[in-house]
Amino acid sequence: MARSINDVIDLTVEELDELIAVASDMKDDPGKYAKICEGKVLSTVFFEPSTRTRLSFESAMYHLGGSVISVPNESSSSASKGESVADTARVISNYADIFVMRNPKEGSSYVAGKAASIPFINAGDGGHNHPTQTLADLMTIKIEKGHFDNLTVGICGDLRYGRTVHSLINALSRYPGVKFILISPEELKIPDYVRREILEVYNIPYEETGDLVAAMPELDILYMTRIQRERFIDPANYDRLKDSYILDMEKLQTAKKDMIIMHPLPRVNEISVKVDEDPRAVYFRQTLYGRYMRQALILKLLTEKDYKEPKPPKMIKSEVLCKNPRCISQTEQELEHIYKLVNEEHQIYRCIYCESKMKMPQTID
Ligand code: NCD
Repeated sequence: MARSINDVIDLTVEELDELIAVASDMKDDPGKYAKICEGKVLSTVFFEPSTRTRLSFESAMYHLGGSVISVPNESSSSASKGESVADTARVISNYADIFVMRNPKEGSSYVAGKAASIPFINAGDGGHNHPTQTLADLMTIKIEKGHFDNLTVGICGDLRYGRTVHSLINALSRYPGVKFILISPEELKIPDYVRREILEVYNIPYEETGDLVAAMPELDILYMTRIQRERFIDPANYDRLKDSYILDMEKLQTAKKDMIIMHPLPRVNEISVKVDEDPRAVYFRQTLYGRYMRQALILKLLTEKDYKEPKPPKMIKSEVLCKNPRCISQTEQELEHIYKLVNEEHQIYRCIYCESKMKMPQTID
């Protein structure tokens, strides 16, 4: 079976370091890589809006000498006729050598990766994960700060639905001495699985606060995010929360001189344009680092020979449906309801697709 990258933890810390090293070499010596993927085809299938992620993947493939075939929106694909994610992945496997997908259903990437017979990369599955944005974020931190250890990282905005936030916390939690200050309105705090299965399991120091100004002087990195309008079921809640944080020059007065300001983009109005001129603002460079990291990942997946899938966690099948209305298992007919055991002691199970928590599900085998 081909390798799929659904989540940033599908890459080891050693692999992340290697990707950053290769991406940096690609930045310094692009000619060396200009034909390295000649004859290979990347397919991008995006069922949610995207500028950076899709174009940076496509640009990445062209910079490696490969070609691209693309479905830029759902209405121009057979999904609009009712085709399943799994069938889409099976078909793409006949046309391309590597497959990148963005889909609003949480856990859709797990399904696509299992069904594809070519390497698969998740470019965002609903509010769940966005591992390649994290690759861009990691290269940004490495180049702009020089290291990952002992950093105080403030993450501000929509921590509940912001998939880039979940993937970033997951990645940075693996480096020693990292501390998080999680800044959000009460309703938009990080999901339970991030708190319990990443921060608490790995004993990562973190604080939760609503106050950006009070947190500012402590931060080495400020990672701003937009409030994710498309994930709100009630638009009135979005309107109430949308302007929760607006970073401006006044709020930056107490920030460290060498703090960096990151943002996965797109920005709505959570960072005033005046801040763009501040040397601490690195969010436009972050988009370029994203292209180099995607180049490095594509090259790795197309050339690696010795990949062995890690041992899967204990899983059970159940008749109980996942409760998450955005989970792929709610809409994809052929899927079985499978749960993975994530905490033996407390018997905590999570949906294999979207990772929503389940009480001890009824087993059918
Ligand atoms: C992010 C995403 O799609 O999750 N954008 C991106 O990929 N750079 C962030 C966002 O949309 O807010």
